[in-house]
Amino acid sequence: MASSSQLLASFLLLTSLSLFSPSQSATCTSQTFTGNRLYTFCNDLPSLNSYLHWAYDSAQSTLSIAFVAAPPSPDGWVSWAINPTATGMVGSQALIAFRDPRGGMTVKTYNVSTYGPLTESKVWYEVKESSAEFSGGVIRLFATIVLPEKGRTTVNQVWQVGPSITGGVPDKHEFQPENLNSKGSLDLLRGQSTAGAGGNSRTKKRNIHGVLNVVSWGIMFPIGIIIARYLRTFPSADPAWFYLHVFCQVSAYAIGVAGWGTGLKLGSQSKGITYSNHRNIGIALFALATVQIFALLLRPKKDHKYRFYWNIYHHGFGYTIIILGIINVFKGFDILKPEAKWRNAYIIVIAVLGGIALLLEAITWIVVLRRKKSSESTKPYDGFNNGHSRQERLAP
Ligand SMILES: *[C@@H]1O[C@H](CO)[C@@H](O)[C@H](O)[C@H]1NC(C)=O
Repeated sequence: MASSSQLLASFLLLTSLSLFSPSQSATCTSQTFTGNRLYTFCNDLPSLNSYLHWAYDSAQSTLSIAFVAAPPSPDGWVSWAINPTATGMVGSQALIAFRDPRGGMTVKTYNVSTYGPLTESKVWYEVKESSAEFSGGVIRLFATIVLPEKGRTTVNQVWQVGPSITGGVPDKHEFQPENLNSKGSLDLLRGQSTAGAGGNSRTKKRNIHGVLNVVSWGIMFPIGIIIARYLRTFPSADPAWFYLHVFCQVSAYAIGVAGWGTGLKLGSQSKGITYSNHRNIGIALFALATVQIFALLLRPKKDHKYRFYWNIYHHGFGYTIIILGIINVFKGFDILKPEAKWRNAYIIVIAVLGGIALLLEAITWIVVLRRKKSSESTKPYDGFNNGHSRQERLAP
C-alpha cells in the first residue's frame, strides 16, 4: 500500500542513486599521478588552489613531494619551497617548474635571497630527482630531496605561482593576498600543515559557503517537506502547515541562493580544478528550487482538473531536491574536508529528521487507515486516488 508520492520518492531515490554513483571530486585525496607515484600524506594548501602530496623517510631524511598548482597562464611557473631560516619568501629554497624553450617541462632550484631576479643555484637540500608535467591547466612538480638536518620534521613551506618566464628566468608573481598568504609550516610526519598568519579569506569563504548550503539544502528544505507531508494529516494543523511550509521553503531558498552564489564565486576562483559533479548538482538544485518557488504562484485551485498533475510535479521536484541536496552536502564535505565532527553532526541531524519522518509516516498511515475504515461503506478503496483525495481534502 503506497501513495503516489511514496512511489515517486522511491523511484527518484533509485534513479538518482544510479546516476550519482561514487565519482571523482578533485581534492588532494582524489588526485592521482602517473608512474605509480604514491605519497603518504596530502594537503589542500590554503591559498592559490595548490596541493601538496608527500612522503617522508625520517631515517634517510628523504622527502618526496608532488606539488600541484595552476599557473596564471600556460607559460607561467609554479614553485614549492622550504625556508630553513624564516617563514616568508626571502631565504626560501625553491623548486620552480615551468616550460622550457623546447616545450618540455623543467624544474630548477633557486636560493631566493632577495626580491630581485632569480638565478638558478644550489639550495639548502640535495635534489635527488625532479620532474614536472603540465596538463589541464595544472603543473605537477615532482621531486625527491634530502634534507641536510636529520631529525627536523617540521619545516616552513612557501608556495607560489607566477605568470611568465623571460629568458629562462621566472618573472615576479602578483602580490595579491593569496600570493602573500601562501606559506605555513608543514609537519612532515603527522601530515599537518598550518596556514601562515594573516588570515585566510578563502577558507572563510569556503566555510560560509558550507554553512549556508548545509542549513538550506541539507536541513531546511527537508524540514519544510516533512511539515508539508505530515502536518496536514491533522485537520487542526490546517492551514497552518501550509504557511509553515511556504515560510520554511522560501527562507531555505533565500539562504540557498546566497550559498549558491558563494559557490559560483569559489568556482570562478578555482582555476584548473573544477568539482564538476558538485557544481552540476548545485546548478540543478538551484533550477529545481526556482521552479518550485514560481510553482507556488501558478498553483491551480485545489479542485481544478490540473491540480492533480501540479501535485505530481510539485512533489516530484520536492523529493528530488531533498535527495540531490543531501548528496551535494556530502560532496561538499568531500571537497572542503572539514573536521570529522561537522560531517558527523550533519549525519546525526539527517538521521534524526529521517527518524521523525518515519514516525510521522507511521502515524499518518494509522490516521488515514482509521479514516478510510469509517468511510469504507460509502467509497470503494483505491490507493492512488485515495491518497490523492486526502491531499485534496486537506490542502488549503
Ligand atoms: C643563499 O643565499 C644567501 C645570501 O646570498 C647565502 O647566505 C646562503 O648561504 C645561500 N644558501 C645556499 C644554500 O647556498
